[in-house]
Amino acid sequence: MKNVLVTGSSGFIGYHLSLLYLKKGFRVFGIDDMGDGYDVKLKQWRLKELKKHDNFIFDKIDISLEKKLGNYFLKNFKKNKIETIINLAAGTGVRKSTLHPNSYYQSNLMGVLNLIKLSRKFNVKSFVQASTSSVYGDSKEKSFKINSETSKPDSIYAASKKASEVLLHAYHSLYKQNISILRFFTVYGPCGRPDMAPFIFTQAAINNRLINVFGTGNQKRDFTYIDDIVQGIYKSSKLRGLNYLNLGNNRPVSINNLIKIISQLANKKIKRVHKPSTPEDVFYTSADISKTKRIMKWEPKTNLEKGIFKTYNWHIENNKWLKKIKVS
Ligand SMILES: NC(=O)c1ccc[n+]([C@@H]2O[C@H](COP(=O)([O-])OP(=O)(O)OC[C@H]3O[C@@H](n4cnc5c(N)ncnc54)[C@H](O)[C@@H]3O)[C@@H](O)[C@H]2O)c1
Repeated sequence: MKNVLVTGSSGFIGYHLSLLYLKKGFRVFGIDDMGDGYDVKLKQWRLKELKKHDNFIFDKIDISLEKKLGNYFLKNFKKNKIETIINLAAGTGVRKSTLHPNSYYQSNLMGVLNLIKLSRKFNVKSFVQASTSSVYGDSKEKSFKINSETSKPDSIYAASKKASEVLLHAYHSLYKQNISILRFFTVYGPCGRPDMAPFIFTQAAINNRLINVFGTGNQKRDFTYIDDIVQGIYKSSKLRGLNYLNLGNNRPVSINNLIKIISQLANKKIKRVHKPSTPEDVFYTSADISKTKRIMKWEPKTNLEKGIFKTYNWHIENNKWLKKIKVS
């Protein structure tokens, strides 16, 4: 049986990725620090679901703690050789990173350093790093190409992710490790993040709550459905060499339009208040995915209407416990 290590396995993407690997017959080693970046009940729910699978093995570990992580590797991966490390563990949330710069750097940079060193020590075939569209900053390009400017981040979060990309470049250069650096564009789907618009707006529509819209709502995001993202991660783990790739939908949609799609599904108007936009917010994101298509034959299969429909239905089915989750 093949083994994979998924860090941040109780997170939104980690949960869905772990399910995909389990379905493909892998044994999944999941680690997460179960931190309180957002309502922990959501992470506990995902973990409980994953633990229903015999081939899912979980440990509560903080990737920024070098010694503890090293002992974990010694205990688990001396006899169980791992094929791939997928590093999704990170401080997430762009606005929150301004409040907690040190903890973001600990997880998003020191954590990566610890993992890439161990990846080499334990002869892991490939390393996949979750990066972000935020590294492009407030780009004015119509569509963000993989070689576009990324040295002018607008948030601590983006800076920490860019720093990890640079560190991994050095590791590849020195030791020729196989590394895929994936820049995700606004991921959404069932059991998503309660600090992100698709989750917050869907909950508001179902439970008649008021939403905050930062700025005019005309800002656009390249919303990308979770199933497409996890397929992309899986494919990238087979690549050799160092690869930077965008995983995005290539069809930016405004926040106002997102609200409209959810309102139509719920058949009601979502009440809103407008708040000033914050300096971390960029106006527009859009992925140029030509390289991703060419290198690993990946392209998104789920348009926003279909993805929001699936997300909305999941929220309806789970509303009993979900309505108690704190959104932020
Ligand atoms: N969701 C998106 O739209 C998006 C977009 C771009 C990039 N990303 C990146 O994808 C990855 C996964 O994001 P997500 O949306 O699933 O976020 P998430 O916050 O739901 O998941 C991250 C998980 O990592 C865990 N974690 C944080 N610090 C840790 C540490 N030091 N040690 C161990 N575990 C730790 C958290 O508890 C959490 O469960 C992150 O690296 C994020 O930066 C996500």
